Amino acid sequence: MDIFEALLQSHARQRTHCKRLLEAIGEPDARRAAYEALKAEMAAHETAEERAFYVPLIENDDTVDEARHAIAEHHEMDEMVEDLDKEEPGSSGWLETVGKLVHKVEHHLKEEEQKFFPEARKVLDPARQQELGQLYVQEHERLFEAA
Ligand SMILES: [Fe+2]
Ligand SMILES: [Fe+2]
Repeated sequence: MDIFEALLQSHARQRTHCKRLLEAIGEPDARRAAYEALKAEMAAHETAEERAFYVPLIENDDTVDEARHAIAEHHEMDEMVEDLDKEEPGSSGWLETVGKLVHKVEHHLKEEEQKFFPEARKVLDPARQQELGQLYVQEHERLFEAA
């Protein structure tokens, strides 16, 4: 599995969790389960993606700006999750932040897939794409299990 296939699998899981979260917004148990699943997937994905994808892209002049931008967005999403963890689940503030988070996640995944992946394909040769895919999968599994 190359790095792009590996990242796309996690993106699909995040989209599923976002959809479930919005569908379950009025049901506390289902909402909590979807939120916790999204949070766990995002945490493992962001760190593994930074190590296996954005660090190599930072090293290249052609992709350094994209990598910085994406890492800054990871940080913004982490802050939204921190805010949510401080608020009362289901409260109006919580619901508003959930809406913003889902919107941000969707924007981020789309930007990565449509803008950054094509740029990254130009700077990472096929062997490197495979090698980074393996590194990503190992890191994601390790982080997901440790959480
Ligand atoms: Fe990302
Ligand atoms: Fe991603």
